[in-house]
Amino acid sequence: MKRIGLITSGGDAPGMNAAVRAATRQAIALGMDVWGVRDGFQGLCNDNLIPLGSRDVGGVLQHGGTMLGTARCDEFLGAPGRKRAAECLGRYGIDGLVMIGGDGSMAGADKLLNEHGIPIIAIPATIDNDVPQTDMAIGVDTALNTAVDIISKLRDTAASHQRTFVIETMGRHCGYLALVAGVASGAEAILVPEFPYELDEVVQAVRDGMKRGKKHSIIVVAEGIRDQFELADFESPAHKVAGYIHSQTGEQFDVRVTVLGHVQRGGAPTVFDRVLASRLGAEAVQKLHEGESGVMVGLRRNQLVDVPFTDVIGQTRTLDEHLMKLAYTIAE
Ligand code: F6P
Repeated sequence: MKRIGLITSGGDAPGMNAAVRAATRQAIALGMDVWGVRDGFQGLCNDNLIPLGSRDVGGVLQHGGTMLGTARCDEFLGAPGRKRAAECLGRYGIDGLVMIGGDGSMAGADKLLNEHGIPIIAIPATIDNDVPQTDMAIGVDTALNTAVDIISKLRDTAASHQRTFVIETMGRHCGYLALVAGVASGAEAILVPEFPYELDEVVQAVRDGMKRGKKHSIIVVAEGIRDQFELADFESPAHKVAGYIHSQTGEQFDVRVTVLGHVQRGGAPTVFDRVLASRLGAEAVQKLHEGESGVMVGLRRNQLVDVPFTDVIGQTRTLDEHLMKLAYTIAE
């Protein structure tokens, strides 16, 4: 293999730059050329690629976002779009691809491999931590730290005003961010799509807390619980939860809502994400160099692993039920 392409796809995740940097320099160390694809798979459909040398990826390790740009590319969802992408790779003489992104992007990469025989190694990068077969994806740790930092600030004001805050995390259909951020912030209740809950129980938990002397409460909800309500695109489930609490308690609870939103996707990657991204970036290139394809490199018990796409795509990741139970036990 003489020349490889690097692509970041789907939602940006802090640490993507560290992965691009490590992959580029590992490839150069192995005697290969590197091209970066701009704006995700859109760049392959539009012939938008740039050559990457060692200096081009200098000074990016500490920055969030992705220096290559990313996109959710509708054209690539169809077979004609993927054909254009494969032709583009051919024109540039690119022999293999490292794709840095989430499960949706991995499914697209798998189709590119199956339909056009392009060797591909994937690196999981998404703040949602919804990719199966890896303990962590790139960006999760940073997003968690951002969420917990903000929730701690909200607790300051909640405590000062004796309020109940309903705080919504991202995560698409996965409750991982809400659960872990909730545990790390001492939330009184955590609502995720994976585990059933009754809103009356949430109200009761806050009431009981008050009886035990709590003056304020933090309720963390995952955006993924939106499917349990009838919501317009612009409405958020946190407001529904807050509305229900208000309807049951009137002026007794002074309720406020904060939707954390895209702030969780930005910012400088944590040490964990920088190191994880550096390890996975280099490992992905090593695997391509050794002739492997159709696998995701990931992390299990702090060891790098490689997992066939078939064991990742379309599979769901389970959430730790014990951690959820613990959250309620220690919120007493
Ligand atoms: O997958 C990352 C993520 O931030 C999800 O948590 C969220 O549901 C989604 O992307 C938001 O997508 P967009 O940035 O396209 O609005």
